[in-house]
Amino acid sequence: MGQIFIANPKGGCGKTTVAVQLAGFYANMARSVQLVDHDAQRSSLDWASGRPATCAPIKVLVSANEPVLADATYSVTIHDMPAAWTLDNVDTLIHPQDIVIIPLLASPTDIKACLRFVMGIYRSGLLERGVNIGIVANRVRKNTRYFKVLEAFLAKLDIPLITVLRDSQNYVRAMDRGLTLFDLPAARCSTDRAQWQPLLDWSPIANC
Ligand SMILES: Nc1ncnc2c1ncn2[C@@H]1O[C@H](COP(=O)(O)OP(=O)(O)OP(=O)(O)O)[C@@H](O)[C@H]1O
Ligand SMILES: [Mg+2]
Repeated sequence: MGQIFIANPKGGCGKTTVAVQLAGFYANMARSVQLVDHDAQRSSLDWASGRPATCAPIKVLVSANEPVLADATYSVTIHDMPAAWTLDNVDTLIHPQDIVIIPLLASPTDIKACLRFVMGIYRSGLLERGVNIGIVANRVRKNTRYFKVLEAFLAKLDIPLITVLRDSQNYVRAMDRGLTLFDLPAARCSTDRAQWQPLLDWSPIANC
């Protein structure tokens, strides 16, 4: 069972959006997908409650703070971690070969919060234990000063930038209907889908 954790203690950076989109991707590849909603806001659960029965199925499991217990019969498990999660129970939750994706916005406060999280990751020994960790820059406007600040920050890290997603109403509209980009006709969201390709081609995700 492949496990993917979408985590960044900074609120609103896109954890649920990335978690749900990835769940939609694997579900549309005919994989059995479990999405674990660790957040008391229950955003993933809300999204799933609007998902049409005709779409590829995604099982949603809710968790409070206990280290959960995903059902090992699913082939992919995606964990939507809560804001303010700073690696509590990390050794119980995350195992070698698991994947951690950090969505990150290009703003000074998000970059500072991410730096603290990354320092925690370095101290936790996750990288040495063989956990695959990557960053997804989210809601990016490339021609801005803060995207350059983000690039300069990322250049100093050992954690790779896997892809850059633009700010797009396609995410908002799809999520409102319990859908993902991968449930929609490709022609309706080709620019956004193309931005996912580097993540989907990243070997830990491709081999998950
Ligand atoms: N690439 C994007 N383009 C447009 N809107 C986006 C994008 N990514 C996220 N959003 C919107 O930004 C808001 C926050 O996103 P999301 O809920 O995924 O963040 P989060 O990290 O899960 O938040 P929280 O920390 O509260 O759990 C939502 O309204 C979402 O629809
Ligand atoms: Mg969320």
